Amino acid sequence: MCGIVGYVGVKQAAPILLEGLAKLEYRGYDSAGIAVRDAGNEHVEVVKAKGRLKNLMEMTDSGKAVRGTCGIGHTRWATHGEPSAVNAHPHYSREKRVVVVHNGIIENYQEIKAALQRKGYAFATQTDTEAAALLLDSYYSEAGRSGMAPRERALSAIRDMMIRVRGSYALGILFGDQPGVMYAARKDSPLIVGRCDGELAGHMIASDVPAVLSYTRNVVYIDNLEIACLTQEEMHLYNIDCEEIEKPVVEIRWDAAAAEKEGYEHFMMKEIHEQPRAVRDTLSPRIREEDGAKRVDLSETNLTDEDFAAISRIRLIGCGSAYHVGMAARYVIEQLARVPCDVDLASEFRYRSPILEERELVVIISQSGETADSLAALRLCKESGIRTLAVVNVVSSSIAREADAVMYTWAGPEISVATTKAYSTQLAALYLLAVKLAVVRGQIDEAREQELIEQMLELPDKIERVLSDKERVQWFANKMASCKDVFFIGRGLDYAISLEGSLKLKEISYIHSEAYAAGELKHGTISLIEDGVLVVGVATQPELFEKVVSNMVEVRSRGAYLFGLTTYGQYAIEDTVNFTVYVPRTDALFATSLAVVPLQLLAYYISCAKGLDVDKPRNLAKSVTVE
Ligand code: F6R
Repeated sequence: MCGIVGYVGVKQAAPILLEGLAKLEYRGYDSAGIAVRDAGNEHVEVVKAKGRLKNLMEMTDSGKAVRGTCGIGHTRWATHGEPSAVNAHPHYSREKRVVVVHNGIIENYQEIKAALQRKGYAFATQTDTEAAALLLDSYYSEAGRSGMAPRERALSAIRDMMIRVRGSYALGILFGDQPGVMYAARKDSPLIVGRCDGELAGHMIASDVPAVLSYTRNVVYIDNLEIACLTQEEMHLYNIDCEEIEKPVVEIRWDAAAAEKEGYEHFMMKEIHEQPRAVRDTLSPRIREEDGAKRVDLSETNLTDEDFAAISRIRLIGCGSAYHVGMAARYVIEQLARVPCDVDLASEFRYRSPILEERELVVIISQSGETADSLAALRLCKESGIRTLAVVNVVSSSIAREADAVMYTWAGPEISVATTKAYSTQLAALYLLAVKLAVVRGQIDEAREQELIEQMLELPDKIERVLSDKERVQWFANKMASCKDVFFIGRGLDYAISLEGSLKLKEISYIHSEAYAAGELKHGTISLIEDGVLVVGVATQPELFEKVVSNMVEVRSRGAYLFGLTTYGQYAIEDTVNFTVYVPRTDALFATSLAVVPLQLLAYYISCAKGLDVDKPRNLAKSVTVE
């Protein structure tokens, strides 16, 4: 949800900013802009363009037309003000005395705007960010009158602005009268500082690691209410009281190639294919041999077996696909461990005065670790003294750092807006939790434990087998690309899979789709079924197979065209459906991990057949840092 980048150093800034923005485009892509400052004069040049980053690249001749070694850039996902060149960032005050890029939302911008207008400030855009830029300008003028040194003056203005604004921000800031200096500040939106050595000598700021990875692996994670002041040679970090602080430089281990397409046409397809590796990486380190048996090891959570045994309830919280992971995991946890399990949409959770139990464990599921609603839910639970566990992909993200414990999903960077490998790894992490709970609570015996662990460990190879049959799904997708409505139906775990399949399809193919618990159709929705409507029936659960097939027969007799998704061996489905995809057999509780893959492929191929931008679907952004 908007990406910011900045560079100060020996090199020309604009090409570096544009390359960084290209890596952040997954965060928003309705407009983009850069501000570059030439050390030799007072002039800050700002260039902005509506639409994809390529428009800005064309306007600036890939950055070559904008000279200067210090600059900031932004790729936008509009919240306040329509996508346009005017509303694109950077935003600035008169004569570009203060120039700002911002990821987040200034909630009280109306009130700030009104106060500044009374002081004579004129606003040129409809954005909330402009209020922060002009507020900074106002505090910077005030600080200037008290004769402070330039850095002190900037810090004091930034601090006063941070105290005054409400909301979330990662800000990159240039002051027109401070050449060769870049400032940054953060609250509730991700921000890193990169230290570049060698011929690039200098510093970078960014919303996410991929933006700096071509230039450096050494980064500092900026925390809430911290400020960075950066020059070519120096990095100074401050707390909100403007006291200098020390922070560790972290070495990023993963490769820049992990954030490249590596020959695939789209990131989504690459990430779909990475699922076997990602699931293996998430499972294997947490399974250890002990006395000839395999055990789930969750010592990273700092919860002892006694702690796990004493948990009275599990509450799974997430948004979108992460919520769907929770929906699937609930079946697995309740069936295996017999612990009551609730699943909550993070965006709803806080607003229903949730009744939390002292001994419950709240699990926040998030790929980015920055989703505003999930973070807010986490904080609410922490304030209530409830133990929290984060299942998160992005290392050192806000949710990972604020939760009491974290289980990382080792999916690697996920760039495509539609999640695939993060979903699969979150699911794998929660299987581990389910088995652990079941064992310590005495709900399963040793033989069942070993069987479940073996089945889990076989999942990566089985996902590989599903992928090897992708051309059949592609063929079907090409036939179906013009359909207008799709229904996904299933019961039990198959309903949870349907939810994810439906979301995948609608978000990247723009086809209306809905997921229904198959037994619910008769209570209203079946009236929407007519000739040619595509219904995807998911039937991986042996004990529910016949019931789901009966529901498929009901829709077929009303004209539906049927895609059946089941496991090898359940060939009876062919009497009912028009097209079938089989996935390998596994323990029924883990079938989601296999059945979700053809549904990801279906959505992918339909999106391609329609010529859509698979990785960057309209109106969406990867990391939703606003409520
Ligand atoms: C859908 C999708 C979203 C995310 C949701 C939560 O493909 O990616 O629904 O799952 O925005 O994001 P995270 O997991 O980053 O909290």
